[in-house]
Amino acid sequence: MKDLTLDIRIEKTENSRLSTVDFNNIPFGKTMSDHMFVADYRDGKWQDLRVVPYDSFQLSPATSSLHYGQSIFEGLKAFRNAQNAEEVLVFRPEENAKRLNVSAERICMPTIPEEIFMEGLHTLLEIDREWVPNTPDSSLYIRPFMFATDSFLGMRPSETYTFAIITAPAGKYYSKALRLKVEKEFARTAPGGTGFAKVAGNYAASLLPAKLAAEQGYDQLLYTDAKERKYIEESGTMNVMFDIDGTFVTSPTIPVEDTILRSITRLTVIELLEEMGKKVEERHISVEEVITAIKEGRLNGAFGIGTAVTIAPFASIADEGIDYELPADYTFAQELKDKFQGIQKGEIEDTRGWTYKI
Ligand code: PLP
Ligand code: COI
Repeated sequence: MKDLTLDIRIEKTENSRLSTVDFNNIPFGKTMSDHMFVADYRDGKWQDLRVVPYDSFQLSPATSSLHYGQSIFEGLKAFRNAQNAEEVLVFRPEENAKRLNVSAERICMPTIPEEIFMEGLHTLLEIDREWVPNTPDSSLYIRPFMFATDSFLGMRPSETYTFAIITAPAGKYYSKALRLKVEKEFARTAPGGTGFAKVAGNYAASLLPAKLAAEQGYDQLLYTDAKERKYIEESGTMNVMFDIDGTFVTSPTIPVEDTILRSITRLTVIELLEEMGKKVEERHISVEEVITAIKEGRLNGAFGIGTAVTIAPFASIADEGIDYELPADYTFAQELKDKFQGIQKGEIEDTRGWTYKI
């Protein structure tokens, strides 16, 4: 038990929905747990910290985030400790707290003190502990978010905000290897834009290209740089990694490129790969390099990395109307995923203090 110092008001529900959840069949993001953490930013400070029953917000039609998109979010996961099912392990929450503030600063929102993020999360998960699944391939997906709440149609940063954390038990995000398409027409962001921040608008920009690709049978896109349409950046919900001749290549994030989200899963995976004695290169990688490696049989495999998707192997990559199949016998992505999830779930010793215990 950590020392909690903040004054957080608690109001528990009298109508828990827990018994209605089938923990063996939990679609991603549909069922929310019983409670949520909320804090309001008013008069220049965060106030009224509370854990209350999950419920709708009441918003004015002129709420500025609805019009101008001052809205940011995070995504992280909690698991039951495999060594002690009473204990909940949250994976690297401090990193999400830091990144939320990077996003906040980019779109003129107030930052949230890390202790409010951490103690709010801790208090919420203590109350909704029973919502953390104990079934294979499942977790409690945690969604912290912040949005502008001024009721004002003028174009300026809002003066008031709400920060909240909601959670949802989740099963697998993808259940098969992904078919990717290189995207050269649409961009989700551009240099100088908001790609490195987890702002709602980036996701809005990616919906149409993703929908068009889905109509052609693709699961996800590989966005290319907005200027030259030459280098692979990332996918709509994950960073990407290519195993070329045994070297793991992934595009650089900030401070080198401001168009790619700095994935916390990727930071973790890079450390795990290095520990396994693998060579990792964070550098620009062109579409041409990837396609040539596929043609020459030097691309052992490729996968997406992110909280929701964990490690998601690719089945094929399409470029200029041609589908290039990737080796179907690439087992390393699963090996890496087992190691990564083993640490998240307490099956493998966490030597770096990545898991936060509740
Ligand atoms: N890239 C984008 C655009 C994402 O939405 C996500 C998901 O959060 C990621 C990458 C992976 O980041 P993380 O590993 O921190 O979840
Ligand atoms: C996450 O991995 O948390 C994401 O942001 C993906 C989400 C947009 C579904």
